[in-house]
Amino acid sequence: MTLNQLRQSFLDFFREKGHAIIPSASLVPENDPTVLFTTAGMHPLVPYLIGEKHPMGTRLANAQKCLRTDDIDEVGDNRHLTFFEMLGNWSLGDYFKPEAIGWSFEFLTSPRWLGLDPERLFVTVFAGDADAPKDDESVGIWQSQFEVAGIAAEEGAVGTDAPADGPNGPRIYAYPKKQNWWGPAGQTGPCGPDTEMFFDTRTPHDPVSGPACHPNCDCGRFVEIWNDVFMEYEKVGSPSIGSGTKFVPLKQKNVDTGMGLERMAAVMQGVPTVFDIQEMKVIADAIQRLIPPGPPAASTASLRIIADHLRAAVFVIGDPRGVAPSNVGQGYIVRRLLRRAIREGRRLGIPGTFIADVAAVIIGQYGEAYRELETNRGRIIEELEREEEKFGKTLERGLKEFEKMSRDRTISGAEAFDLFQTYGFPLELTQELIGERGGNLDVAAFREEFRKHQELSRGAAGVFKGGLADHSAETTRLHTATHLLHRALKNVLGDHVEQKGSNITAERLRFDFSHPSKLTPEEFAKVEGMVNDAIRQDLPVRFEEMTVEEAKERGAIGLFEEKYGEKIKVYFIGDEKNDFSKEICGGPHVVHTGELGSFTILKEEAVAAGVRRIKATVSGTRD
Ligand code: ALA
Repeated sequence: MTLNQLRQSFLDFFREKGHAIIPSASLVPENDPTVLFTTAGMHPLVPYLIGEKHPMGTRLANAQKCLRTDDIDEVGDNRHLTFFEMLGNWSLGDYFKPEAIGWSFEFLTSPRWLGLDPERLFVTVFAGDADAPKDDESVGIWQSQFEVAGIAAEEGAVGTDAPADGPNGPRIYAYPKKQNWWGPAGQTGPCGPDTEMFFDTRTPHDPVSGPACHPNCDCGRFVEIWNDVFMEYEKVGSPSIGSGTKFVPLKQKNVDTGMGLERMAAVMQGVPTVFDIQEMKVIADAIQRLIPPGPPAASTASLRIIADHLRAAVFVIGDPRGVAPSNVGQGYIVRRLLRRAIREGRRLGIPGTFIADVAAVIIGQYGEAYRELETNRGRIIEELEREEEKFGKTLERGLKEFEKMSRDRTISGAEAFDLFQTYGFPLELTQELIGERGGNLDVAAFREEFRKHQELSRGAAGVFKGGLADHSAETTRLHTATHLLHRALKNVLGDHVEQKGSNITAERLRFDFSHPSKLTPEEFAKVEGMVNDAIRQDLPVRFEEMTVEEAKERGAIGLFEEKYGEKIKVYFIGDEKNDFSKEICGGPHVVHTGELGSFTILKEEAVAAGVRRIKATVSGTRD
C-alpha cells in the first residue's frame, strides 16, 4: 500500500461515514502566535473545536501537512520525522466515543479497508486522576469491539504483565495524563482523555526498557498508529496558579483523531521504520546515487537526515503561504533544515551542489497529492539553489574568521557562538576544526550562550510546542484590527498591496505586505486614521459562508487558498450596504469594532525587497 493509496483509503472510509473531506490547511498557521508550524490536524480547526460553526458541517476528515521541530535533533534515529502527514477525523459536537472507537477498529481491521489482524492491536486508555475519572467507557467499547472479533480483551496493569501474543493476554492498558490525555500544555482550553492504538510488531521485548513489555514501552515492539482524543473537558482558571485550575465538562464534546500516515504505511508495507517505506526509499536512493563510489561509506543516519530535512523544507517553501530560508521564525527553521542536509551531504562525500536535484525527486513523489508543490516548483528549486550557494559562501567566510580567531589559541564557547550567530558557521564544523588542531571546544559554554539567545528571541512570542492555540481576547481584537489595517493599506496605497504574512501575539499585530517604498508620514497618518475611524464607528463584524467564486465576485480579499473545500468563510466589517472590509478568514473576530479601543502603529519597516512590515497594537480594555 502506497502513501497515496493509504491516504485515499482513509478519506474514502470517512466519506462513507458521512464526513466532509477538507483539504490540508497551510503548514504555516495564520494569526497564531503559539506555534511556528501546524503540528497536528486539529490545529487549524481550533476555532471550530471551541464552538464556531464549520462551513462543511460537524463531521470532517482530512490529511494534514504537519511539521514538528522539537524533534529536529533526533532525526537520524529510526522513528522521528520532521514533516509528516496526519490523517484525522473530527466530530464537532456530533458523534462521540462509541462511533469513534468503532470506526477506528473497523478501518484498521476490516478486510475491506486495512485488514490488520486484530490480534496485533493493543490499546491504551486514560487511567483517571484527581481531575477526571478513569475512561471506563472506552474500556467497555474496546472490549465489545474485540469480542466481536473473537478476542477477549482483558485489562493489563503496566509493569506487571507482559502482553501475551495469544488471544488471552491483556490488551487494554490504562496510563496517566502524560500518555493518555491531550490538550493545551499548561494552558486553559478544551482537552480530554484519549485512547491510543498500537500495532504489535512482535519483535522480542528488550529488557533494557524494563522487566515487562507494554504498549508504551520504548523497546520498540509496539508502534503507536492512531490516537482518538475525546475533548470532553475544559481546563479553566489561572494556569499560572496550579491549584486555581479545574476541569469542567465541555458543552460541545468533540472527537479529534490523528494517525501518522508514514508510520501506518510502514506497518502496511511490513517494513521496520518510516524511513523504509517505498516513498522514502525513492528519495534515499536518489541521494545515494549522488555519492561517489568508495569511502566514505554512506551512513544511514546521514541519508535519513537529508531525506527528512529536504522533504520538510520542500513542503514549507512550496506551501501556499510559503516561507523562504531566513534568520527569523519559520524561515530560520527552513534554513536550519537545509544547512543540516547540506552538511550531511558533504559528510557523505557528495561533490558540488545537490539539494535541488533531490528536491526534484521529492516534488515528483508528492506533486500529485499536493498540487502546490508542482505550482511552486520553480520557487522551491530557486530557493534551494540560492541557499546552497549562500551557505557555501558562509562556510568560506566563517573559515577565514575561525582562522583569525584561533591563530594563537583555542577559541572559547562564546566565540564559537559568535561564529555561529554572526557568520552562520555550524558548531559541528567549529568542533571538527578545533579537534584537528588537537583542542577541545567548551560546548557547555556554547550551549549556554545559545540558550540565552533563544530565550531572548522567543520570550515575547511565547511559542510553545503543539497544543491548542491561544484565542484570548487580546489576540481576537488584534486579529480584527489586522483586517482593518489590510483594508486601509489598500485604500491608501493602492490595490497592489497584498498580504505577505501576519502574526499576532497578545501584545501586537505584525502585518507584512507588498509595497515598493517606505510609507510617507502622510500615508502613515492616513492609514492609522482610517483604522481609528472604523473603530470609532463601532462597525458590526459578521461572516457568511460561500464558495471561493462567490467570495471573489463579492470582492473579498485574502488568500484564495482552497482551505475548507467548497465553502469558505468571509468576514464582513461594516453595515451590509457599505462594508469597510471583506476578507476570507477562519476567525475568530470581535463582534463590534468599538471593542478595539484605539489603534496605534508602532513601527513601519522593510523586511525584504518590495515587502514592508507594520507592527501595531490596540488599546481595547482587557477583560
Ligand atoms: N491531536 C491528536 C494528536 O495529535 C489527535 O495526537
